[in-house]
Amino acid sequence: MKTNQQTNRRTAVVTGAATGIGAAITERLAGQGTHLVLVARDGARLEAEAERLRAEHGVQVSTLALDLSHRGAPSRLAEWLADAGIEADVLVNNAGVSLLGPVADTDAARVRGLVDLNAGAVAELTALLLPPMVARKTGAIVNIASTGAYAPAPYVAAYAASKAFVLSFTQAVWAETRATGVRVVAVSPGPTETAMNTRRMPGKRAPDAVADTVMSALRGRGPAIVDGRLNAFQTFVFGRLLPASAAARIAERSLRKAALRN
Ligand SMILES: NC(=O)c1ccc[n+]([C@@H]2O[C@H](COP(=O)([O-])OP(=O)(O)OC[C@H]3O[C@@H](n4cnc5c(N)ncnc54)[C@H](OP(=O)(O)O)[C@@H]3O)[C@@H](O)[C@H]2O)c1
Repeated sequence: MKTNQQTNRRTAVVTGAATGIGAAITERLAGQGTHLVLVARDGARLEAEAERLRAEHGVQVSTLALDLSHRGAPSRLAEWLADAGIEADVLVNNAGVSLLGPVADTDAARVRGLVDLNAGAVAELTALLLPPMVARKTGAIVNIASTGAYAPAPYVAAYAASKAFVLSFTQAVWAETRATGVRVVAVSPGPTETAMNTRRMPGKRAPDAVADTVMSALRGRGPAIVDGRLNAFQTFVFGRLLPASAAARIAERSLRKAALRN
């Protein structure tokens, strides 16, 4: 792969890139002529997506099959980029998993794995790829959080807590980097039609709509954006107006059926 200096085009590293919201984001970025590095566990699926993006958009696309929940995986990605001579102009921390059910009934190792991926890898990758962006005074990091980040969510407790970490971490890094020329922003989708969320829910959005919000977040200025007006309203009510205890009790009632059916 030619380096971005050689082609004078941006390169974006996108995790969880071959499916759902990640695939919609890579489609938008490739459509703008951005070269891509796609990261996820399923290497064959990544390569098929890379082949399609190269053919349709004429951009350079590399793939790296990596389980980002594993200790050391974010460093491996950073080393791989350095070895390939690729400078990441954009990082989209999108890979994530969810667990539905009471914590008391959930395998403890899966809870740990979720936190390692959804929170640990996001923080580590941000810390690894941010310094060269700050040094070059340009670049962008988009961390995909969730409306679940704004209030405690029973039956998806670890998931919502991991996303609260992503939101808080990103807002703080945004403030640290405001004057550096680097754009850092959290984007919070609500229920979105992907493999992660196949439940029938009112107001569910398409991955393409979330990708549009990500693209406008890249152009914007604030630290955090909620995708969709209804989702923004709900995060305002649950995250700002209600005390956490009331938000948790209401969410417990609304999520109980789905959790027990699971
Ligand atoms: N769908 C929703 O309702 C919703 C709502 C709010 C926020 N989100 C967030 O949006 C992001 C994308 O999710 P999605 O809805 O598009 O679901 P998805 O289609 O299941 O995408 C998740 C992606 O993450 C990758 N991934 C999972 N575990 C990984 C690991 N250990 N290491 C590296 N990559 C891993 C998966 O690829 P491999 O399986 O090949 O690794 C997949 O490409 C997630 O952060 C999710 O929390 C989704």
